[in-house]
Amino acid sequence: MSQFQRGVYISTYGCQMNVNDSERMYSLLEMLDYHPVPSPEQASLIIINSCSVREKPVHKVHSEVGRYKDLKSKNPALKIGVGGCVAQQEKNKLLGDIPLLDFVFGTDAIDELPGIVSGLEKGEAKLNKTRFSHGQPYQVETLITNPGVSTFVNITKGCDNFCTFCVVPFTRGRERSRKLSELITDIQALVKRGVKEVTLLGQNVNSYRSECGTDFGGLLKAVAEDTDVSRIRYTTSHPKDFNQELVDISQKYREKICDYIHLPVQCGNSEVLERMNRGYTREEYLDKVKMIKQAIPGVALSTDIIVGFPGETEAQFEETLSLIEEVRYDGIYAFKYSPRPFTKAARWEDQLTDAEKSIRLDRVFALQRPLALELAQENLGGTFEVLVEEIDAEGMAFGRNTQNRKTKFPAMGKNPGDFAMVKIEKARPSLLQGLMVEH
Ligand code: 5AD
Ligand code: SF4
Repeated sequence: MSQFQRGVYISTYGCQMNVNDSERMYSLLEMLDYHPVPSPEQASLIIINSCSVREKPVHKVHSEVGRYKDLKSKNPALKIGVGGCVAQQEKNKLLGDIPLLDFVFGTDAIDELPGIVSGLEKGEAKLNKTRFSHGQPYQVETLITNPGVSTFVNITKGCDNFCTFCVVPFTRGRERSRKLSELITDIQALVKRGVKEVTLLGQNVNSYRSECGTDFGGLLKAVAEDTDVSRIRYTTSHPKDFNQELVDISQKYREKICDYIHLPVQCGNSEVLERMNRGYTREEYLDKVKMIKQAIPGVALSTDIIVGFPGETEAQFEETLSLIEEVRYDGIYAFKYSPRPFTKAARWEDQLTDAEKSIRLDRVFALQRPLALELAQENLGGTFEVLVEEIDAEGMAFGRNTQNRKTKFPAMGKNPGDFAMVKIEKARPSLLQGLMVEH
């Protein structure tokens, strides 16, 4: 195969962690002279980076691979692989069930991708690499070829929380943290390449602990003090671990640490929260929200909600609605509960019907829609610092303010990576619009 024929297409499902993993896969494959292509038709290597957190992930993998049948018959050299959480969950079974597949690699095998692919090129047999590498330290330099203005940086992987609905502890394995010194060097290298904003990424960032005992607060402080990055974001926070120390650090380094926190509540009823094994009550959650809002006025909050958890009664669900009203979230990601393999809640008998879950989901959105609009409108007339991420063909700049609200304005000479003060004249939940003003 000649060099220029090497095109890789990665189809990415699921969370930010997967988006980040796909970036890493592209970068690793560049070392083998594989270049990203925009469609599967142009590819000599197709990877499906799967997600099994919700819905019917195995079906999706089957049907996506099925769509590549013609491509494979036209080009027998085409290699197709599945990575991510479905690969980790199904392992060898996928290779048996889907004859078109050439390889399956788990969430700990991403760095082995160049080896796997060059092996296949040399004619090696179908491959399954889905062992967790429990013993090894977690070292993963951010390998993004073109990091842009804003980039994700993994700080932890895996999760030890075992929420009773969640498959992540089974597909991503035990939690491990990256070395503090390695992280600082990594972020500083990204800054040298033009990165202005980093989002520290983990299933549960608050339980970060470096080899020398530094906790997440210490990490935030180190990134703020020891790197030249302009903005720091992080996701996902677990409410049980979000504490006063973190609020104090966010306040102290407010110049850099953004006024936006994703704090998944999942449900507004304490009994359901206990059955979810979340480790906090409704009251404790609301107290933390109060503490955050007091320390960081104007802070934007977003959350994840699961409706129709096994046994959830109408009254318990209504407590989720009242919590949404009380907190006033900028954004809500709401999902119907979906039974996941290996998880405790999937084995419980009091499952709700899909119709019941759909109705509850609609009720969450119906409540949130006007609330989000109201919150967005509160920005009218306000002036915010926006980090420009891109300029479109019409000369409009797009970026986000510290509260993570997407903002659009005439670029007037500004470039990606620049900061601009923007006065807001139009406000929708998904987009603020305005004009630049002097500092
Ligand atoms: N069913 C529905 N939603 C789920 N999530 C995780 N597991 C499930 C499940 N089994 C949601 C949670 C989590 C988000 C990433 O996905 O709200 O915070
Ligand atoms: Fe899943 Fe709970 Fe871990 Fe989040 S904290 S990844 S919901 S087990």
